[in-house]
Amino acid sequence: MGSISTPNTEEFDVVIVGAGLSGINAAYRVQTQLPGYTYTIIEARNAIGGTWDLFRYPGIRSDSDLHTFGFPWRPWLAAKAIADGDSIRNYIRESAEEFGIDKKIQYNTKLVAADWGSDEQKWFLSTESKNKGSSGKLKARFVVFSTGYYDYDEPLKANIPNLEAFKGQTIHPQFWPEDLDYTGKKMVIIGSGATAITIFPVAAKKAASVTMVQRSPTYILALPAEDPTGNLIRRFFPAWVASRIMRWKYLIQPYIFFQFCRAFPNAARKIMHKQAQQNLPKNIPLDPHFKPRYNPWEQRLCVCPDGDFYTALKNGNTDIVTGNIKSVTETGLIMDSGKEIDADIIITATGLKIMLAGGTKISIDGKHVNPNEKFLWKNTMIQDVPNAAVIIGYTNASWTLGSDTAALLICRILKRMESMNLTSATPSLGRTSSPSSNGYITGSEEKLKVNGNIEARDPQWDGMKEMKLLDLNSTYVEKAKGILPKTGDRGPWQPRSSYFADAWGSVFGNITRGVRYEGGGGKKVV
Ligand SMILES: Cc1cc2nc3c(=O)[nH]c(=O)nc-3n(C[C@H](O)[C@H](O)[C@H](O)COP(=O)(O)OP(=O)(O)OC[C@H]3O[C@@H](n4cnc5c(N)ncnc54)[C@H](O)[C@@H]3O)c2cc1C
Ligand SMILES: *[C@@H]1O[C@H](CO)[C@@H](O)[C@H](O)[C@H]1NC(C)=O
Ligand SMILES: *[C@@H]1O[C@H](CO)[C@@H](O)[C@H](O)[C@H]1NC(C)=O
Ligand SMILES: *[C@@H]1O[C@H](CO)[C@@H](O)[C@H](O)[C@H]1NC(C)=O
Ligand SMILES: *[C@@H]1O[C@H](CO)[C@@H](O)[C@H](O)[C@H]1NC(C)=O
Repeated sequence: MGSISTPNTEEFDVVIVGAGLSGINAAYRVQTQLPGYTYTIIEARNAIGGTWDLFRYPGIRSDSDLHTFGFPWRPWLAAKAIADGDSIRNYIRESAEEFGIDKKIQYNTKLVAADWGSDEQKWFLSTESKNKGSSGKLKARFVVFSTGYYDYDEPLKANIPNLEAFKGQTIHPQFWPEDLDYTGKKMVIIGSGATAITIFPVAAKKAASVTMVQRSPTYILALPAEDPTGNLIRRFFPAWVASRIMRWKYLIQPYIFFQFCRAFPNAARKIMHKQAQQNLPKNIPLDPHFKPRYNPWEQRLCVCPDGDFYTALKNGNTDIVTGNIKSVTETGLIMDSGKEIDADIIITATGLKIMLAGGTKISIDGKHVNPNEKFLWKNTMIQDVPNAAVIIGYTNASWTLGSDTAALLICRILKRMESMNLTSATPSLGRTSSPSSNGYITGSEEKLKVNGNIEARDPQWDGMKEMKLLDLNSTYVEKAKGILPKTGDRGPWQPRSSYFADAWGSVFGNITRGVRYEGGGGKKVV
């Protein structure tokens, strides 16, 4: 009696949370690099695909090319580099099926709390199932949070005055009703990000009118949907060689463009303005609608395949309005300028609510951890949180590239622990090497108590400055302050740089600097 141990709790070496791109990729890496390991994927929803299953608005597609957005271990072979949502969802599902990853998924299982037990050196995971109204428990040696970066249940609260007065339909793209018939309706899309720019040309084909209302403009780059060099390369090489070449092309080309934009902002601005001007119909001026206040790539750049956005602007039933909304009325909007816009449907394409680890409550020996007070080690592990990774990809390149460097890094850490019989790896600002003879670190005035161990602060991290995790000025990134962990100005705590540096680092980089490894019952510092 009185025992709290639950012998029936299922136990895994690795528990992966989320069956989106990052979760499927992490599973592939774990099962190929650590074949003896047991793992499971728990997924809150009833499907594979994450973002690409949730979002169903008309025209949904990637902004990234699938050569780099797809998995490196299952090349994207289709001619179109930018793919629609259905194709991406199918690609993720088929990839999982091909490697038997789908059989490891537990659907309708949402992770709500994760508590690290120092004594057992294991995670105790509490799950909930919405459908069944039940809860469950799991144990894991390592947890991978591939939960994406936003709240699945709630979008960002849009700051639109008097929106509740509107008598028509208000829709957020995250929850697009599958049966919505907007044929012959007057649609207003509020927002200027990738989502608004995607919906606009598709909706214009059926709606009576579509007006995009933006507070501030965005750079919109028209690119050919089908890359002509791709077709040429495919004619001369077998499909898998061609896909390798295309991957390199799409790794290097955007990188050079990004560096160019940051190094020569004036020239980049001129190029973007010139392209927009050439594509715009005469009645729509560049200023103010296509003259952003920021430089290209200070915020995420939008892409439109074959210039579909600009083509739609040439239709008689479309318009773009730049300015502040004074108020929503029963039948539409009034702008600060006095302009009135009629609407049957308002689409609030105003962004995502950023969230870390899918809202899981993280604790260590029952003590709550606030990830936003912690630094991120190599963009992958949270300071003072043992045996856990958060998968955060790139925002200025394909997300998956960053997911994969993180997954490879985790596998290396697991292999190191395996070969040295260690039980945990904990990123720490403490002194993590050269333990004293009794196994503990001593000798500094400033003591840190981490995980029950007294540890000296490593002077090399003293005075570390905080850096932004995501190097973009977009509204939703700005609003995420205080939610995401911090990054620092030195060593493994720095924000992500380029894929090339991260890919090298995930294979050859130092995985002991800033990490405390424990073994031998979890007491000694190794
Ligand atoms: C409309 C849209 C378009 C985008 N286009 C691009 C693009 O072109 N290029 C690009 O690089 N990025 C793009 N992104 C970013 C995109 O989210 C990522 O690229 C990628 O899909 C993320 O994959 P993921 O697996 O990390 O996360 P997600 O796709 O978000 O998947 C996370 C999964 O985890 C599950 N989950 C979350 N919390 C829990 C929990 N507590 N317990 C159990 N399961 C949980 C979710 O249900 C979901 O299935 C886009 C995002 C959106 C919203
Ligand atoms: C993304 O941004 C980082 C930091 O600003 C930069 O170093 C990197 O080269 C960029 N990557 C790409 C592909 O543009
Ligand atoms: C973001 O904006 C600030 C000022 O508002 C500016 O100093 C900074 O350079 C910008 N950063 C990026 C990456 O655009
Ligand atoms: C990693 O960094 C630590 C601390 O800076 C150092 O002691 C160690 O030798 C490095 N390891 C490798 C393999 O370079
Ligand atoms: C590994 O460590 C455990 C304690 O965590 C110990 O019981 C076991 O004997 C060790 N195994 C080897 C091979 O050293």
